Amino acid sequence: MHTDFTHTHADDEAAVRAVGVTKTYGRGDSRTVALKNTTFTTREGELHLVVGPSGCGKTTLLSVVAGTLEWDSGQIEVFGVKLNGLKTADITTFRRQNIGFIFQQFNLIPTLTTVENVSVPLLLGGTKRTEAEERSAAMLQEVGLGDKLTKRPGDLSGGQMQRVAIARALVHKPRLIICDEPTSALDSTTGHHIMELLAGAARAPGRCVIIVTHDNRTYGYADRITEMEDGQVKQVYANGALRDFIATHR
Ligand SMILES: Nc1ncnc2c1ncn2[C@@H]1O[C@H](COP(=O)(O)OP(=O)(O)OP(=O)(O)O)[C@@H](O)[C@H]1O
Ligand SMILES: [Mg+2]
Repeated sequence: MHTDFTHTHADDEAAVRAVGVTKTYGRGDSRTVALKNTTFTTREGELHLVVGPSGCGKTTLLSVVAGTLEWDSGQIEVFGVKLNGLKTADITTFRRQNIGFIFQQFNLIPTLTTVENVSVPLLLGGTKRTEAEERSAAMLQEVGLGDKLTKRPGDLSGGQMQRVAIARALVHKPRLIICDEPTSALDSTTGHHIMELLAGAARAPGRCVIIVTHDNRTYGYADRITEMEDGQVKQVYANGALRDFIATHR
């Protein structure tokens, strides 16, 4: 029997609460501490950006929050559900029901068409194929790929592949959307359109979007920015401090 996590209820507004999380890769000489007792929180209804230099631990943080990477120590809670207490299979179920993930490397399935790639989360959730493909086609239309429905990833540009990955993360309307550099391969107009879509998905009760980005064109969409450095959170910017941060990073 599967555990149903769709109706979990947080006791406050935190969407993600990661407290004192440590993650180490490798051992001996190749040991890297990617997260050092890191504490990171986001609220429901917000679009939250994570910034910081290459190698500071951004992708690692997103991966442990999404439950796709095991961590060494610390507590992770998503919409009030404590991931620490769950079995791997239950984390997978929880992720399928609640989280959409846009990977830095897109992770599209090369043998499937764009419509079939975008349909995957719906099919995993039990939606019938005809309906899944209709909804996927509509989502692809929204990201400007209505004319690429039957193409395969190998026939698409980097920016087009990125938009297929975005459509796949949004199509099942997950409560939490986690994006690793979602606009890196997009021109300015398309990048702004995608940020509008993501902001729309974030700003509702019980929802949240977290975006790792190096792209200062996205900063103006943020409700909050977490700056990381060397495996830790250096600073969190909101309100006036956020406006100052954006003004100094134009
Ligand atoms: N699979 C892995 N095996 C070993 N070390 C890793 C692995 N993944 C990441 N690291 C190391 O962990 C640290 C954090 O990596 P991470 O990918 O989280 O950084 P990042 O902030 O996402 O960087 P970027 O902006 O370049 O994507 C880096 O020092 C990196 O070399
Ligand atoms: Mg990264």
